[in-house]
Amino acid sequence: MTKHILILSVQILLLAAIASQEPCMNQKHLGLTVHKKEKLTHLRLYWHDSTGGRNPSSVKIKQQVSNSSLFGSVSMMDDALTTDVLKNSTVVGQAQGIYAGAAQGEIGFLMVMNFVFKTGKYKGSTITILGRNAVLTEVREMPVVGGSGMFRFARGYVEARTKFFDLKSGEATVEYNCYVLHE
Ligand SMILES: *[C@@H]1O[C@H](CO)[C@@H](O)[C@H](O)[C@H]1NC(C)=O
Ligand SMILES: *[C@@H]1O[C@H](CO)[C@@H](O)[C@H](O)[C@H]1NC(C)=O
Repeated sequence: MTKHILILSVQILLLAAIASQEPCMNQKHLGLTVHKKEKLTHLRLYWHDSTGGRNPSSVKIKQQVSNSSLFGSVSMMDDALTTDVLKNSTVVGQAQGIYAGAAQGEIGFLMVMNFVFKTGKYKGSTITILGRNAVLTEVREMPVVGGSGMFRFARGYVEARTKFFDLKSGEATVEYNCYVLHE
């Protein structure tokens, strides 16, 4: 009887030890450090979209149902992100994703895109932006909803300002100021 109780209590102790260790093991396994300080990073990037010419960087995959609001249009982009407003300035990454006409009676795009960094400190890392882009407004704010690599646990916002737009050639350059809190 005593022996049984002893074995039982040893088992309970073992189980308790395993249970108390489990959260730590999971955190280690995931590479998480809970008390790490967050950093605020500001990035200024220039987004270059071209819908025309021989090598468009964005393609319309669904035509709009309204020509005035562009409602219903869906475009897929792989746009260069550069360090300066000129298209021939240094490319640091790509903006890959979709913009879609989501508003009736005005121009308001739903933006879903990943900024994929290809050079420098952030090479291989991404931030994900998802928001509303009323392109005729001077400043559009959109949320940064996540990230990867150096930008794990990212959250924040971007401010987009159109620097250049030519309807005829379908070229647009937009300044993106990104404010990102991350691990
Ligand atoms: C939009 O404009 C194009 C070109 O002018 C035209 O072919 C098309 O029918 C128009 N679409 C709508 C929904 O009005
Ligand atoms: C970049 O483009 C601008 C204007 O289009 C031009 O003046 C400049 O010389 C170009 N720079 C390089 C390095 O090609």
